Amino acid sequence: MLADKTIVLGITGSIAAYKAADIASKLTQAGAKVEVVMTDSATKFVAPLTLRSITGRPVITDMFEPAAEFKIGHIALAEAADVVVIAPATANTIAKLAAGIADDMLTCVVLATKAPIILAPAMNVNMFENSITQDNLAKLKARGFTIVDPASGRLTSGKIGLGRLADIDKIIGIIKQVLGRSGDLAGKRLVVTAGGTQEPIDPARHIGNRSSGKMGYAMAEAARDRGARVTLITAPTSLLEPIGMEVVHIETAAQMKEAVARAVAQADALIMAAAVADYQPKAVAKAKIKKESPSLTLELIRTPDILTEVKGDFLKVGFAAESQDIVANARQKLEKKKLDLIVANDITDKESAFGADTNKVTLIDRDGKVDSLPLLTKREVADKILDRVVGFLAKKARK
Ligand code: C5P
Repeated sequence: MLADKTIVLGITGSIAAYKAADIASKLTQAGAKVEVVMTDSATKFVAPLTLRSITGRPVITDMFEPAAEFKIGHIALAEAADVVVIAPATANTIAKLAAGIADDMLTCVVLATKAPIILAPAMNVNMFENSITQDNLAKLKARGFTIVDPASGRLTSGKIGLGRLADIDKIIGIIKQVLGRSGDLAGKRLVVTAGGTQEPIDPARHIGNRSSGKMGYAMAEAARDRGARVTLITAPTSLLEPIGMEVVHIETAAQMKEAVARAVAQADALIMAAAVADYQPKAVAKAKIKKESPSLTLELIRTPDILTEVKGDFLKVGFAAESQDIVANARQKLEKKKLDLIVANDITDKESAFGADTNKVTLIDRDGKVDSLPLLTKREVADKILDRVVGFLAKKARK
């Protein structure tokens, strides 16, 4: 989604300026055209040549000598931008923007652009907490700027406190979210479940499954990048928590059922990518079960079938992990669970097994259409599923 986007990356004079090189690198690698604008003081912290080498584009440091292709300087840059990101943003730049002062290339671009603007402040904790800075940030927020709150930690002054530039991955997640606002799922609410539920046996043990959560997380991120408001309901995974969505952590099928029921209230679609346990221990031992007897029998009872039981006027997408008669079994589930779409995959195939980054699936919809996709990354599969969701939602809107 970053490919072919023009991102103006403003860098101001903070010690965190060197981190902007990492942002520029990640955005460039993702295919974006990154136009770096540095303030005078930023150039004292990091060399423009570094940014130029990373982005492969001229770096703009001087108001009156803009890069050759921007014949009218800040206006052309402001118009070309899909998004303007200032990271790090100093108290000084924030104050200038709040006051509408445009006395360098960066502030001129911000004042002239119609693109969304993201600010990632980085400064000393006292400067950040000062009510002047807080007022300025509140003012910018009210005008539609997106503020990526700084993180807490050790600052250059040796103090511990708020003021460190937010995580680079967080900043990039927010850039994607902001760019996605004009996507084909803008204004839609999606609920996505992910991971394998864990059903407790005793305080130390549970019954689990091999789901990595990767498919569900890819679904949630793809939906976010296309403009949806996403609630991700996740069982424990080893994945990083995604940015730019509401994340609800649960462990058991029963907890997932409750979280889904709450989240779908205003949803347009529910995508159940989670591997929900089919059975749970009938009783959970209060104390850790001792290994004294030579064998142990656990009585298991069925978990609730979330997809079947959840009610409401939204699209339902299910997954079917099958090891034989894939299409026939999946179609049966589609009907039984009254789904709009089911995503069937062959878990005996190494490339689409649990934990893989790729997946080979067949999409079967309520109209009987069967679409066997080639081996794709889970993110690509997610986008194919969302293409169908977009289609179904458009059809529903026409009714
Ligand atoms: O019936 P089966 O477990 O194969 O169906 C898989 C689909 O149903 C998945 O989308 C899964 O998330 C969902 N499911 C559910 N509640 C269960 C079991 C599965 O919602 N208890």
